Amino acid sequence: MKKRDFMDLAWFGLKTIIFKQKKPILGTIILTDYCNLSCKHCAVNNINKRMYSYESILEEMHNFYNEGIRILFFCGGETLLWEDRRRNIKDLIKEAKRIGFYIVNVVTNGTIDLDLPEADVIFLSIDGSRETHNLIRGDTYDIIMKKLDEAKQSNICIYMAINKLNYLEIEAVGRLAKEHPHIHSISFNFHTPYKGTEYLQLCKEEKRESIEKIKKMMGENVPVFNLFSALDVYMENQWQRPCYQCIVSENHKRYICGRCVEDEGLCEECGYLFAAEFSLLFSGNIKIIWEMLRTYLRYV
Ligand SMILES: C[S@@+](CC[C@H](N)C(=O)[O-])C[C@H]1O[C@@H](n2cnc3c(N)ncnc32)[C@H](O)[C@@H]1O
Ligand code: SF4
Ligand code: SF4
Repeated sequence: MKKRDFMDLAWFGLKTIIFKQKKPILGTIILTDYCNLSCKHCAVNNINKRMYSYESILEEMHNFYNEGIRILFFCGGETLLWEDRRRNIKDLIKEAKRIGFYIVNVVTNGTIDLDLPEADVIFLSIDGSRETHNLIRGDTYDIIMKKLDEAKQSNICIYMAINKLNYLEIEAVGRLAKEHPHIHSISFNFHTPYKGTEYLQLCKEEKRESIEKIKKMMGENVPVFNLFSALDVYMENQWQRPCYQCIVSENHKRYICGRCVEDEGLCEECGYLFAAEFSLLFSGNIKIIWEMLRTYLRYV
């Protein structure tokens, strides 16, 4: 990230804290809800089976930028399945950079192609060691490892959603993040219990155990992208939500914080650590601000 862009983000943060602004800085555009997988924990795949048009996505990118959003995520369904008349994700990222977004990231299941040097960070979903990952995500672990080995760059961050099936494998996935040359970090979330997936949610004790493991890994030089101080606050479940600094758009429908905001009672059970982290950051929590600066400068 350029120094000027960084200063601009810092200025946004300061204004948000002082004037208690509710303006977003991080926007996610859903490119499609098509997905080639059907993961046990997921509630957003293949609902309408729509691939949104290039023009519609481009228009929303411009809208986001004009509204002051500077960090852009592309997500899905399976994000990298998106195409429209020979345009693909690379074209969208290049266009987003041309428009002026400071950071452009994608989230993917890793079964398509991880050779995406255009992205600042590729969030790659890996949900356990081989057997458990395959139990959750279908038989995909070996394909992902092959794509990972073939990737020519190291802008990849593992994205792990911790649930009842995989919480004992946090450290194994952490080791992969530490050892694989193309992975620069690992980011954890907890399972958010969408309707029909409640059985995967961890109880408080299991969450506490997982958080202690994540904190321990941070002390052992595993490149964890989460913020140390936010983990305990998350556990106390006292943070403000939804987070007004994040916004999601699917086919021009806007959601503050996440699509999950519309599911009654789900925010109380939220497992998305990024929502807690951003919420704490913009409430002016000094420790979180310091940790966020250090973490973002290291990994983005
Ligand atoms: C919805 S997927 C879309 C991108 C891509 N298909 C993938 O799997 O990475 C984005 C991320 O949300 C995570 N996710 C899905 N359902 C979740 C849930 N109930 N709780 C927490 N994370 C979840 C996935 O594991 C994935 O890392
Ligand atoms: S790959 Fe992503 S979008 Fe597809 S089912 Fe799994 S979590 Fe959902
Ligand atoms: S607080 Fe959590 S559950 Fe609620 S909208 Fe945000 S990410 Fe979704």
